[in-house]
Amino acid sequence: MRSTALLTFLVVFVSTAIGLTMADTDEHSTSSDVAELSKDTIILFSETQKIVENIQSNAGSLLATYLSFQGAPLSNPEYHLPDVKIDNLPTAAMDNDTFLSQTDETRLKNNLYFYSAIVEFLQIVKTEQEDLNPFALDLTAKLEEAVANSTTLSNKISAIMTQMGMSVTIEFPKPLVVPYEGSSYFRKKLRGGVICKEYKDRVFLTKRDFEFLAKKYQGQLIQQQEE
Ligand SMILES: *[C@@H]1O[C@H](CO)[C@@H](O)[C@H](O)[C@H]1NC(C)=O
Ligand SMILES: *[C@@H]1O[C@H](CO)[C@@H](O)[C@H](O)[C@H]1NC(C)=O
Repeated sequence: MRSTALLTFLVVFVSTAIGLTMADTDEHSTSSDVAELSKDTIILFSETQKIVENIQSNAGSLLATYLSFQGAPLSNPEYHLPDVKIDNLPTAAMDNDTFLSQTDETRLKNNLYFYSAIVEFLQIVKTEQEDLNPFALDLTAKLEEAVANSTTLSNKISAIMTQMGMSVTIEFPKPLVVPYEGSSYFRKKLRGGVICKEYKDRVFLTKRDFEFLAKKYQGQLIQQQEE
């Protein structure tokens, strides 16, 4: 089981390396930022990468399922969610320079913050939807799955950071999920949609993060594999 996970990590690494130009990490990461990874950390990296790949399809279908239950205009197939910013929920939108220049600690901590926080946002969406759409059992199941998978991810990422000697303390703003003023159904539905979209986009970004790390630590991964 363990060696299968490690192998997956390596296979994914190789296919990533072939798919990307080699120049982009070399020029951005300084050698002082390259940590010595323990074997356990490498195994955790590969397990996390595998989880992210496995949850991608649920993360994608959650948004589509969510929108399909909200009525017009949100349920129109051609509907595009407006660029609404959710308080205290960082967006996954990021330019490539920022993506490439992050330290491991920032990269991991951004993920840890997001998956720890999104659980609370998704739980509120679930409660709202149980009220607005009590018969949308498929949606409820997908929201529960997203909560479970986010919890798994934050636990894994926290374990990686602990093994790498990084602090896993996160200070959340209080309240994390800012309550509504008034009670517009439309705004509530919209906010839920943006939360589902941020989850989907973040899972994709996390996948990129772990591909980036697999590439960065390629040398150590191969060495560990040979031992
Ligand atoms: C995601 O959560 C669901 C529901 O708990 C679970 O069945 C599934 O195995 C999880 N996926 C991963 C990759 O952990
Ligand atoms: C960012 O990098 C990805 C993958 O290397 C590339 O596909 C994408 O076009 C880049 N985006 C920008 C805005 O340069």
